[in-house]
Amino acid sequence: MIDRQTIERINAAANIVEVVGDFVSLKRAGASFKACCPFHNERTPSFVVTPSRGIFKCFGCGKGGDAVRFVMEHEKMSYVEALKYIAKKYGIEVKEREESEEEKQQNNDAESMMILNGWATEYFTKQIHETDEGRSVGLGYLRQRGFTEATIKKFALGYCARKGNDMSAEAISEGYKEQYLVDTGLSIKRESGGYFDRFHGRVIFPIQSISGRTIGFGGRALEKSERTAKYVNSPESIVYNKSKTLYGISYAKNAIVKENYCILVEGYTDVIQMHQTGIENVVASSGTALTSEQIRLIKRFTSNITVIYDGDAAGIKASIRGVDMILSEGMNVRIVLLPEGDDPDSFAKNHSSEEVKRYIAANEEDFIGFKTKLLLEDAGNDPIKRAELMRDIVSSIAVMPDAIQRTMFIRSAAGMMDVDVSVLTSEVARRRVTAQYDQQTTEFVRSMQRQAESALSPTKKVKGGSSIEVLEREIIGMLMEYGDRDFELKEGERMVTFNFAQTLFEEFEKDKISFKNEQCKTIYDLYKVEYDQNGRGNRVEPALFINHPKVGDEAVAILTTNENYTLSTIFAERDPIIPAEQRLSEIVPRQVLLYKSKTIETIIGELNEQLKSDSLTDEQTDELLGKINALNAVRRYTSLRLGRVIL
Ligand code: CTP
Ligand code: MN
Repeated sequence: MIDRQTIERINAAANIVEVVGDFVSLKRAGASFKACCPFHNERTPSFVVTPSRGIFKCFGCGKGGDAVRFVMEHEKMSYVEALKYIAKKYGIEVKEREESEEEKQQNNDAESMMILNGWATEYFTKQIHETDEGRSVGLGYLRQRGFTEATIKKFALGYCARKGNDMSAEAISEGYKEQYLVDTGLSIKRESGGYFDRFHGRVIFPIQSISGRTIGFGGRALEKSERTAKYVNSPESIVYNKSKTLYGISYAKNAIVKENYCILVEGYTDVIQMHQTGIENVVASSGTALTSEQIRLIKRFTSNITVIYDGDAAGIKASIRGVDMILSEGMNVRIVLLPEGDDPDSFAKNHSSEEVKRYIAANEEDFIGFKTKLLLEDAGNDPIKRAELMRDIVSSIAVMPDAIQRTMFIRSAAGMMDVDVSVLTSEVARRRVTAQYDQQTTEFVRSMQRQAESALSPTKKVKGGSSIEVLEREIIGMLMEYGDRDFELKEGERMVTFNFAQTLFEEFEKDKISFKNEQCKTIYDLYKVEYDQNGRGNRVEPALFINHPKVGDEAVAILTTNENYTLSTIFAERDPIIPAEQRLSEIVPRQVLLYKSKTIETIIGELNEQLKSDSLTDEQTDELLGKINALNAVRRYTSLRLGRVIL
């Protein structure tokens, strides 16, 4: 673990222009730098680097963050890897954090266990190549399964002798601590004293971390037997956590990035045979239901997953349940069904890589289509089963975070099930709303209470400015990014479409509100001119503001902090995952009304100050009180609307 201070030093040293500049050629533009975005294809620059804030942001594709985030995104590194990369660039010594005694012990233990695992990996490979039993039994078995010498070496496949304790004895004689033999699970303590080898008489598949160190083992029995399991695996430990591990990831990661998709299979032998054929973007979940940690591991390299199922796998229906989770992580999932009787292992063994690739390309189906078809076959014409099927498909689509994707899948599923698109659409919408509300109502009510409390002290400062200034910048930032977008609000039973810019202009003009911050006001006016000329729904390129001589810097500053804006407002804790873009219908009305009510609060505050003056005539006092009363009425009304729109 890297200690806090070091992280701070790395962040302080990281010059965003230099870090990004190593990968992208940047052009100066005022206080900022511009370039064509390295994360998507474009011809005019919308990628902005702001040295004063230490951040980058692309207004084309939306990616943004600090130097560390850039390295993570661009180089597909983890947080810690990116920190170390930057530390190296600036010659910062990465000191591990001062650990507590307990942590120190854990880290020492973990390191010792990995060293032991490394030793064991080597020991098992020596066994398979250099002993008679290993060669005849272990190597013989792997050869008969069609693995080449090179493959066996690459995956460090090995063998553990039948005689029960050779490995344990050897490890102990070489000085490895018995405790670690037990903790790694390599050895099992006998009740009668002494140890025996967990994997004795088995072929060994070392399981490696993303960086290629052995964290555990799978041991396969050589013949079918009722009495012993086909595979014995290392037990869970501080170095091996099955649910966070994907077999083959260290060999597959580069190919996954290059091919921009990851093939998911079930078993060790499937991965190995695919690699041997020449298809290397393959990992295995090792026979368990996929976990969200495993998906996030893949997500570091690609957002496209192709799951290969055996043609005759009885478990398909059970296992597709797990796929909903992959969808909810925003991954694109495709399914390939192999010919009956084949698994990836046999299929790869009997076909060239070209043939396998062609088969995948020709047979992969999007998940929803696959699932619909599968369940339709089952349901036949039974109306109850068909209704169930629809609920099932609806829930799969509802978890997808991307709205456009949902629409696409709704269309194709509706076609397949022969139901109206509109029926499916409203079912999906309902499912999403209820799912969100179930989960978030409590938190939401709490944040509303907090909001009400802070409304009582209107002078309270938020993030370096008054809350009004913060809101102004947020609204202007959203206008620049999403002004052309439409969003829908429920009016009674109907859904009505609103345009963002239009709504904003109308609301502000109705109450004669204008922005206090000069620059915000200028951007607002600039946008309005464009809007009046081109009509609603036409995109006003953020480039117009970014490159404006007077407000350019401020526009960049606002845009580059805009992604943080949710954090300053009440819906932060409600739903930080769904991007603002997809929540305009809740955000826009709330922002506008919040802004209005804050403005009114400020004015009421000012009038109250004036009331305190000694030199007021009775008439003036009456007038002030009248105004305050009127404003209070407006405020109540605004809060009412605010409440209604929010809830
Ligand atoms: N598995 C396991 N324990 C078992 C059976 C299976 O841990 N008793 C895990 C292994 O990771 C295995 C995966 O589930 O790789 C898939 O199981 P299976 O298809 O039965 O095994 P294969 O890897 O295909 O092995 P083989 O081809 O040798 O039968
Ligand atoms: Mn198999």
